[in-house]
Amino acid sequence: MARDFLSLSDAGGDAVAAMLNDAMDRKAARCAWPKGRVDADSPLSGHVLAMIFEKNSTRTRVSFDMAMRQLGGSALILEAGSTQIGRGESIADTARVLSRMVDAIMLRTDDHAKIEELAHYAEVPVINGLTDLSHPCQIVADLLTVIERGHALPGLQLAWLGDGNNVANSLIEAAGLMKFTVRVGGPAGYEPDAGFIARARAAGGEVILTRDAQEAVAGAHVVVTDTWVSMGQAGGEQHVAAMQPYQVNAALMAKVAAGATFLHCLPAHRGEEVTDEVMDGPASAVWDEAENRIHGQKSILLWALGKL
Ligand code: CP
Ligand code: NVA
Repeated sequence: MARDFLSLSDAGGDAVAAMLNDAMDRKAARCAWPKGRVDADSPLSGHVLAMIFEKNSTRTRVSFDMAMRQLGGSALILEAGSTQIGRGESIADTARVLSRMVDAIMLRTDDHAKIEELAHYAEVPVINGLTDLSHPCQIVADLLTVIERGHALPGLQLAWLGDGNNVANSLIEAAGLMKFTVRVGGPAGYEPDAGFIARARAAGGEVILTRDAQEAVAGAHVVVTDTWVSMGQAGGEQHVAAMQPYQVNAALMAKVAAGATFLHCLPAHRGEEVTDEVMDGPASAVWDEAENRIHGQKSILLWALGKL
């Protein structure tokens, strides 16, 4: 059964919970193994994932490639500019051709409509490797890291600081599916997508918007931030100036709950959205979070290919 993973809602709360359990089990099973060894059950033996990148990536490309290898399959990296997409071949025709050749397609792009078009025309699962609207694969790794750090998802108080971007949107989507609270501290005009907020609230998540960074983090179990200016965003002086009060620094981290965890999807801009002392401090779980991209991608791939 081919399943697209354009958003966390494509899977739903139960399937996301199943992905998290599978990822934890697979991670535990190979904890003393070398990185490249194939999982004992080799569930995607012979399967190939094509990854199309219209934007830069380090973690997403390496973690999907490693995930496919550990599941017994392999991955192809296609830089869009060096494919015929870069010379104007349509998304629809690319979807038709790749569907005859590979088992699944991952796309990192700008306009979310492009991945919807790809999924519409593809006969194999399509996975969202980040669009301007959302980054659901990141949130599977983030939830895994939150649980590993001892926080339960129901009742979780999570603070998001800064720009209401693609990662924030998917985190808010997760709040609805997994029933937790997101307090967004950020400037006016840079809020997360209103549709994501409304759907999360309707699904039973709590989403609170505040302009006060201290109010956002007060008593939080998890604090999350991301770059102030995402790939493809115009940015500019006014944008960066508006973000300054939302820097995650030691003073802000003094307001969180005891045992709180700091997350950042990376790449980080040290000295902007987060200081060195927080990135490298005891609350930071950013390197586990980055590693968990592999474990998360594996469970997403297994779900998309109907094996979970
Ligand atoms: N977090 C994340 O998606 O990183 P990359 O841009 O390096 O893939
Ligand atoms: N919000 C960031 C995430 C990078 C992984 C961006 O879109 O550039």
